[in-house]
Amino acid sequence: MLLSNIHRLYGVHEQSRFLEGSDQASLPFLENAWLRIRGERIGSYGTMADFPEDVQDAWIIDASGRMVLPAFCDAHTHVVFAGSREAEFVEKIGGGTYAEIAAKGGGILSTMQAVRAASEQELFEASWHRIRRMMEQGTGAMEIKSGYGLDLKNELKLLRVIRRIREQAPIPVRATFLGAHAFPPDYRNNREAYVDLVIREMIPAITSEGLADYIDVFCEQGFFTVDQSRRILHAGLDLGLKPKIHANQLSSSGAVQLGVELDALSVDHLEQLTPNDIQALKDSTVIPTVLPGAAYFLRSAYPPARAMLDAGLGLAIATDYNPGSAPSGNMWFTIQLACIQMRMTPAEAFNGATINGACAMEVADHAGSIREGHLANLILTQPLPNLESIPYAFGENPVHKVMIRGMWV
Ligand code: NIG
Ligand code: FE
Repeated sequence: MLLSNIHRLYGVHEQSRFLEGSDQASLPFLENAWLRIRGERIGSYGTMADFPEDVQDAWIIDASGRMVLPAFCDAHTHVVFAGSREAEFVEKIGGGTYAEIAAKGGGILSTMQAVRAASEQELFEASWHRIRRMMEQGTGAMEIKSGYGLDLKNELKLLRVIRRIREQAPIPVRATFLGAHAFPPDYRNNREAYVDLVIREMIPAITSEGLADYIDVFCEQGFFTVDQSRRILHAGLDLGLKPKIHANQLSSSGAVQLGVELDALSVDHLEQLTPNDIQALKDSTVIPTVLPGAAYFLRSAYPPARAMLDAGLGLAIATDYNPGSAPSGNMWFTIQLACIQMRMTPAEAFNGATINGACAMEVADHAGSIREGHLANLILTQPLPNLESIPYAFGENPVHKVMIRGMWV
């Protein structure tokens, strides 16, 4: 298959590396281009001035006026869940806060109950439907966390559903164990016993089945302390799980410094980031991942993306798709928020959602940019003049078609 007359072919990065500081502002593209797909991978590409000659038996698709972009790499989701939380949404409209609702046993614990009540098959079907939808909207790789089971049996159930998704979905999927997402009701007055359960039973059981790539902790006031988080993440590291941390969502709590100390793959959220936190990240290779949909939905401050980029940091941006703080897997909307609310340029936001997201889930060698040999996971847009026109015309759907592994979805 060959796409011809592509108005702009974006994301032709020369290397698959994490982009930081001013490098994140550059999203290289070819104007008036062609792109060859070989099976499920990207073949060669170039400009129409050197159109290949050996195309007699290729299926040529005319992409005149349209742009081609690498599919999104959504490096932070909780897309495997049951139930939904519209009642809390309305409560929050009326003034309730995320922390208040959680303290009353709502929030994560209400989804925990729905997950415990659901069978593996029900969870799979509900999640599969959401993931199909995300792919149709242009997502071509994703990370998925457990964290709504909060006991051994149900955390295993969630991770087995994620394994099944990984086996059956055509996109790269990474699995993260988030047993330390909240304290379940039985342990409300004995939090240390839950930390012990995570360390002594859950982590060994999960790693012995090879069910997770990463380990995450909600390190936050009212949730897991820095000390508890450190012990849990160390236990994961000892059994081969790299840390990713829910850090500085509600307060600047030391979670960022913990990520730096443990050389975490990423620290995520970062709504409450001090200049000290930015400096700590500067002195590390930890990837800052921001989730503007969660800040939008909870009406919180947005992460200081501009200050971070200007300090020379790079950012990944992800949806955080979950029933409580970001009930949407739409990366277009995430990018619009990044541009409008966080003052990221369109190129910075797209790089955050593609190549940098790929780095935050370690798939950049085969996803997140247009390079020979990468998976043919791409977005063919509606006729549009340039990348900037996408966040500019907010709320529009720029997708004409999405290709995953060389097939239109
Ligand atoms: O990333 N902050 C912790 N976890 C999720 C929300 C989970 C939920 O409310 O169900 C987040 O925002
Ligand atoms: Fe999250």
